[in-house]
Amino acid sequence: MMNSVYLDPAAMNEQHIFEHLLKVIEQYHASQRKGKFLDYRSPAELGRILDLERPGKTQDWQEIFHWVDTYLAYSPKTNHAAFVNRMWVGANLPSIVGEIIVAISNSSACTFESAPVSTLLEKYMIRQMLQLVGFTRGEGQMTTGSSNANMIAMMAARNLCSDSVKQAGLFGQKKLFAFVGADAHYSMDKAANILGVGTDQLIKVPLNRLGAMEFDQLAQAIDMVLVNGGLPFFVSATAGTTVRGAYDPLPPLLELRDRYKFWLHVDGAWGGAAALSPGLKEKYLPGLAEADSFTCDFHKMLGSSLMCNILLINKRSPTLGPVLSAGDGSYLFRDEHTSEIEDLGAVSLQCGRRVDSLKWFLDWKFFGREGLASRVEKYLELCEYAESWVEHSPELEMAVPRTSFNVCFRFKVAKEQSNAFNLDLRNRLYHEGTSLVGVAYIDGRLVMRLLIANPAAERADIDSFFNNLVATGRAMLEGK
Ligand SMILES: Cc1ncc(COP(=O)(O)O)c(C=O)c1O
Repeated sequence: MMNSVYLDPAAMNEQHIFEHLLKVIEQYHASQRKGKFLDYRSPAELGRILDLERPGKTQDWQEIFHWVDTYLAYSPKTNHAAFVNRMWVGANLPSIVGEIIVAISNSSACTFESAPVSTLLEKYMIRQMLQLVGFTRGEGQMTTGSSNANMIAMMAARNLCSDSVKQAGLFGQKKLFAFVGADAHYSMDKAANILGVGTDQLIKVPLNRLGAMEFDQLAQAIDMVLVNGGLPFFVSATAGTTVRGAYDPLPPLLELRDRYKFWLHVDGAWGGAAALSPGLKEKYLPGLAEADSFTCDFHKMLGSSLMCNILLINKRSPTLGPVLSAGDGSYLFRDEHTSEIEDLGAVSLQCGRRVDSLKWFLDWKFFGREGLASRVEKYLELCEYAESWVEHSPELEMAVPRTSFNVCFRFKVAKEQSNAFNLDLRNRLYHEGTSLVGVAYIDGRLVMRLLIANPAAERADIDSFFNNLVATGRAMLEGK
C-alpha cells in the first residue's frame, strides 16, 4: 500500500523537491476514496515496520520521502467513504491549499506585523460569523478548538461574575458553580479543573429521553446551589451532543438565564454548523442570537482542515481583552501605531498563534454560506436515510432515537453479549480496513455511532457500510 512516486536522487534540488512533493500529494489525494481505508497494523507491528531507531543518512531527501511515504501508507484515509468514525474527514481542497500556503509562509497570527493578511482575514471571519449567528456588539477569536473555546467562555463568565478573580484568584469568595447537561463534552470538566472551579462544582444536569438537558432539573439544581450559599455563574447548552447529537433547547435556558443571571454559553462544536442553514438554525438553534457566547468548529461538519474554530461573545465587547490579557507583552504588541488593527494575540491565551484563518477564508469564498449550508442539510438527509436503514434491518436496532446528525445503533444480540459482540464487530471491520465507526456507551450499553461528515457521501456509501457490517455480524454469529 506504499505510495511510490519515482524519485531520482541525483536530481534533488529545491525545485525537484517541490515537484516531487506535489506528485506525492496529488497521488495520495486521488487514492483517498479507493481500496481499503487503512492498512491496519498493530502498534507492535507498526513499530517494527517504522524502525524509528534505524540510523539513516542525514541531509538525504530520499530518506525524507521514504518517511513521507511510510506515514501515508499506514495512516487512515480519512476521506474514504468508510471512515465514519469522527466528526471530521479529509479536508476541503481550498482548505488544503490554505494549509500548504500557511506552511510555506510560516508565521504567527499574534501580531499584525507578522501576519497582516491573516489578521484581516480573522477579523473578517469574526464579523461574518457574528452577523450569521445574530450577535450584536460582539467580538470573537479563532482558538485551537472547541475544548479551548469552551474553557475561554467559562473563563469569561468566571471573571465577569467577580471583579477580583483575575488578580485575587478564587480565594475568599462564594463558591462558583457551572452547569452542563449530563452528556456535555468532557472539555467542560477540563475547563472546571483548569479554571479552579473544580470538577465537583460542575453540576451535570439530568437529560430527557432524547438526551437534552431537563431545564426543570437545571432550575432545581441552581436553587439548591443558591440555598447553600453558592454562586451559579455559567451554564453551557450543547448544540449537538457528542454521542447522541441532542440539542439543548435554548428558549427555556434563556428564560432561566434572565431569572438567575448566569452566562449562557452554547457549545456548537459539532451541531453549531446548523447555524449556516436558515431552516436548520430555526429548527435546532432558536434563540441563539440571545446567548452570551457560542463556539463552532469549522474543522468538523464544515470540512476545513484541522484545527479551525471560532468563539464568539455577544453584547459585551470588550470582554476578551480584559479577561484574557495579562502580563507584559509590550515586546510584542504594537498598539501605539495600530489604532484600528489591534494585534489579535494580545487578547488570546496563546502567544504564538497558528494561522487558521486562511483555510477558513478560502473555504468560505469557494463554497459560500449557501454551499456549506446545503452540505449540512444533505448530511441530515443522509442521517435520516441511515436511520431508516437500521429500522428496516432485521439485524440492527437504533440504540436511542435520532434527533439530528448522530445515528446510534447496534447489532441485535442477547443483551448480555451485546457490548462484547458489538465491540468485536466494530474492531473486526476496523482491522480488516473495511470501515471505522465510532463506539460509545449510553447508560452502560455500547452503541456504534455513525457520523456523516463527508461531502462526497451518498446513499450508496451508507448501503455498503451497513451491508458490510451486517454481513460481518452474520458471519460472526455463524462462528466464522
Ligand atoms: C460537543 C463537543 N464539544 C467540544 C468538543 C471538543 O472540540 P475540539 O476537538 O475542537 O476541542 C467536541 C469534540 O468532539 C464536541 O463533540
